[in-house]
Amino acid sequence: MWRHMTGAERILEVLLTRRSVSPRRLEHPGPNPDELDAIIQAGLRAPDHGGLHPWRVIEFRPQNREALAWCFEQEKLRRDPLASPTDLRRAREHATRPPLLLGFVVSPRERSKIPAREQWLGAGAALGNLLSAAHQLGYGAIVLSGERCFDETLARQVGVLPGEYLAGFISVGSIREAPPQAREVLSQSVWSCWQGWQDPRDDNAPPDQPILPSERVRGS
Ligand SMILES: Cc1cc2nc3c(=O)[nH]c(=O)nc-3n(C[C@H](O)[C@H](O)[C@H](O)COP(=O)(O)O)c2cc1C
Repeated sequence: MWRHMTGAERILEVLLTRRSVSPRRLEHPGPNPDELDAIIQAGLRAPDHGGLHPWRVIEFRPQNREALAWCFEQEKLRRDPLASPTDLRRAREHATRPPLLLGFVVSPRERSKIPAREQWLGAGAALGNLLSAAHQLGYGAIVLSGERCFDETLARQVGVLPGEYLAGFISVGSIREAPPQAREVLSQSVWSCWQGWQDPRDDNAPPDQPILPSERVRGS
C-alpha cells in the first residue's frame, strides 16, 4: 500500500489499512454479539467533550429485516413514484443483504454547554472508531447514508426521535471480495505549519505554509 512503511506505520497498520467494503462484497457471518459489544465499546472510547456520547446505534436484527425492506421500498416510492422493479429490489436489498446492519444516529444534547459542533465531531469520531474496530476484528464495514437518511418518515419508522439525525446505515460482515486498492493521499494535503506573527500589531497571521515531504521529520 505504501512505497515504504516506517516503524510508526507498521505499528498503526490496522488504522492505516482500514477501507470501506461495500455491502455487495460482504457475506455472512457478521460479528457475534460479543464482537458487536466490543465494536460499540470502541465507539464509546472516542474523544467526547463532556462525556455526552451524543450518538447511538440501532441494530436491525434478521427477524425485522423484511419490515425494514418494506420501509426502504416505501421511501424509494415516495422519492420516485415511477421507480422500476429493479430500483425497488435494490432498495430492499440495502435492508436485507448486510450480515449486520446498524443505524447510526446523532443525538446532540440541546441544553448542554458543549457546543453542537463539538457534539457532531464527537459523534463522527465514534463512527470512525466503530468502523476501525470492525476492521480490526477482520470484518468489512461501510457507512452509507444515501437519500433515505434524509426522509423524515423513514427516520420516524426506525425510531429516530425529534432532535436526532439518522446519519447513516453501517453494514458489517465477512469480506467475500476485497475492495479496490485505496488511493494514497499524502499527509501534506492536510498538514501545514503556522508561521507566527511577523508583526504583533497586525491581527492577521501570515498564511500557513504547507509541509514539504523533506520536512516530515520531527523538527526542533
Ligand atoms: C456519514 C457518512 C455517510 C456516507 N454515505 C455515503 C453514501 O451514501 N454513498 C457513498 O458512496 N459513500 C458514502 N459515504 C462514504 C463511504 O462510507 C466511504 O467512506 C467512502 O466511500 C470512502 O471509502 P474509504 O472509507 O475506504 O476511504 C459516507 C460516509 C459517511 C461518514
